[in-house]
Amino acid sequence: MTGTNTDLLTDSFAYTRPDEVHALLDSLRQEAPVCYVNPEGIRPYWAVTRYEDIKYIESHPELFSAEPRAVIILEELEKVNLERFGDIQGVKTLVHMDGDQHTKLRRITRDWFMPANIKRMRDHVESIAAGFIEAMEGKNGECDFAADIAFWYPLRVVLQLIGVPEQDEQHILTLTQHLFAPEGYVTDEQDVTAIYLGAVQGMADYFTQLAEARRADPKDDIASVLANAEVDGEALDPFTLTSYFVLLATAGHDTTSASIAGGLLALLQHPEQLQLLRDEPERLNAAADEMIRWVTPVKHFARTVLEDTELGGQKIPKGDTVMMLFDSANRDESAIANAREFDITRPASRHLAFGHGRHNCLGSHLARMEIETFYRLLLPRLESIELAGEPQFIPSHFVSGLQSLPIRYLFK
Ligand code: HEM
Repeated sequence: MTGTNTDLLTDSFAYTRPDEVHALLDSLRQEAPVCYVNPEGIRPYWAVTRYEDIKYIESHPELFSAEPRAVIILEELEKVNLERFGDIQGVKTLVHMDGDQHTKLRRITRDWFMPANIKRMRDHVESIAAGFIEAMEGKNGECDFAADIAFWYPLRVVLQLIGVPEQDEQHILTLTQHLFAPEGYVTDEQDVTAIYLGAVQGMADYFTQLAEARRADPKDDIASVLANAEVDGEALDPFTLTSYFVLLATAGHDTTSASIAGGLLALLQHPEQLQLLRDEPERLNAAADEMIRWVTPVKHFARTVLEDTELGGQKIPKGDTVMMLFDSANRDESAIANAREFDITRPASRHLAFGHGRHNCLGSHLARMEIETFYRLLLPRLESIELAGEPQFIPSHFVSGLQSLPIRYLFK
């Protein structure tokens, strides 16, 4: 495509300027919805930007495989991952596998995330949310809502579910941030590859120990379930086991944190919607879903084409990679009316922020409940709230959201 810098799609720092990325996605949807991209240092791929095409990919796992790569990373990093972990992605989680293996592994934790269990967790999640709202109250009317509150609340919820003690929360948060956005932590001593590898190794070490502890002394938590799980009569191999932990301990909070912080920014930028939500709190359910659509924290997943195929008028040969740009799907006006407006009154949403099909997000009920619970408690407490500085975004083309959201507020 002429005049369009498609290199931005895998340029993590471009995602710190979301308007620029959205403008690029808008033009790709219009002019080249399935677009061949060949950036330096990254395996060429097809950028897929229309809602219906992404849904088609997600609905046809027999044509579009999650193996061998579900996330587009530097070729150099794929090489190092392969040498070090025996897999180009460095982890092998549910999102990286297909077929029976995926079904059997998903089944191990599925019930923990189904609505019946989420309902049972409501009071506990509410008490965690209340603690963070108290923490806001203790900050004398000013805080960085992303870094002080939103990062921590979903982290505590999911880590308690897994069985990670509170004193290890900072460690897991740092590892997650290094895994999802290594570009943001580069130093003179450590490049992107070193930061990423350190995070994968750190996670593997931590969860190997946790699994050993739960094998010796099982508790009522997911760590005990995973440590003692069997598939076809066999325990999970160490790489699959630690990868499973990594998925839950990362996907389970960063995404929700991004939605909570990005949701507040959207409300502050649309004061009439904030007022409406305060006047009619029964809209919280729909509002939480709209926050998730608006933020779309997971920017992409990738698939490998298993047969020569055609998509959006392009012939894609077997073996090529497709990149599903969820942020673009969720702003596609041909699928979602007024998609480029933040609107908490929109009828039942059909967004793709949680993906679609067999890989659809296992934690979607939990995420929605956490967001709804938080705002249900926060909004009635507020006398006023406003932005107190420039919001900053996380540099990542995989999972991105607010890094910093300075706010000023008055509690009643
Ligand atoms: C998968 C988004 C919260 C656990 C996914 C996928 C997306 C996603 C896009 C891939 C879907 C696909 O390829 O079709 C989100 C968003 C969240 C969120 C936007 C918050 C707003 C959570 C939470 C958990 C979680 C709280 C709980 C641990 C998972 C798991 C998978 C997954 C286990 C893998 C499912 C599979 O491949 O079978 N999520 N997620 N997510 N998510 Fe979430």
